[in-house]
Amino acid sequence: MSERPKVTEAAIREMKARGEKVAALTAYDFPMARLLDQAEIPLILVGDSLGMVVLGYPDTTHVTMQEMEHHVRAVARAKPRAFLAADMPYRSYTTPDETLKNARRLVAAGAEAVKAEGGREILPQVNAIIGAGIPFLGHLGMLPQHVLEEGGYHVKGRKESEHQGLLADAEALTEAGAFAIVLELMAAPVAKEISQRISIPTIGIGAGKDCDGQILVTPDLLGMLPWYNLKHVKPRLNAADQMRAVVKEWKESVERASEREPEVRPVVTK
Ligand code: KIV
Repeated sequence: MSERPKVTEAAIREMKARGEKVAALTAYDFPMARLLDQAEIPLILVGDSLGMVVLGYPDTTHVTMQEMEHHVRAVARAKPRAFLAADMPYRSYTTPDETLKNARRLVAAGAEAVKAEGGREILPQVNAIIGAGIPFLGHLGMLPQHVLEEGGYHVKGRKESEHQGLLADAEALTEAGAFAIVLELMAAPVAKEISQRISIPTIGIGAGKDCDGQILVTPDLLGMLPWYNLKHVKPRLNAADQMRAVVKEWKESVERASEREPEVRPVVTK
């Protein structure tokens, strides 16, 4: 059997041309990256959702460059065939110079592409990244790094002004050279229209079925975080319940064993 080739930026772009859907997932550590790769996921993202799903922060605005680097290194050690993208964390891309410095740090940690949130307002930063030869993944719609100023996670594109702005942002990122764009919490007809208009894949999360691919936060897919009540994902596994049950059963087996006759150990004399 021939080895699966390494997935590249070009391969992700070509999937749209061939009419193939992109199924992308997040990973934050070595074992998850290895399992996703064995399942032949073509695009793995070290998302800054790391903050909530691994580090226990209330939102992504607390995630630092050092934390992203640490987790990108862990994922990269799995040497995935998947194309490996990493999120630029909050306030790590405020100027083009700072953006490039931080994007290079993520690449040095093992990322093959970086993602940043926003459209035309971050074009100078996007140009700096792409101009330096680093593949760029866009992110439009609800931008989780703006959750505090927006007071929550709201669906984007329902107002006509938002709809037109999102189309213009998607076109600007495509023109700048992004290889794909994540569309998060976006009105489904707007996500569909963007997907039809631009030549690069759109990868939706809570943006309807007509995107060129879908991305999920892997612990949401596996039902590992039952304390979040998410509308856009129905877990395919109830990992939290299964883990709790196995741990409880093991704990009880340990407790039962200690109730038995204590083991008689030979007395060792010197
Ligand atoms: O941080 C993240 O996990 C993301 C999602 C869109 C998957 O950006």
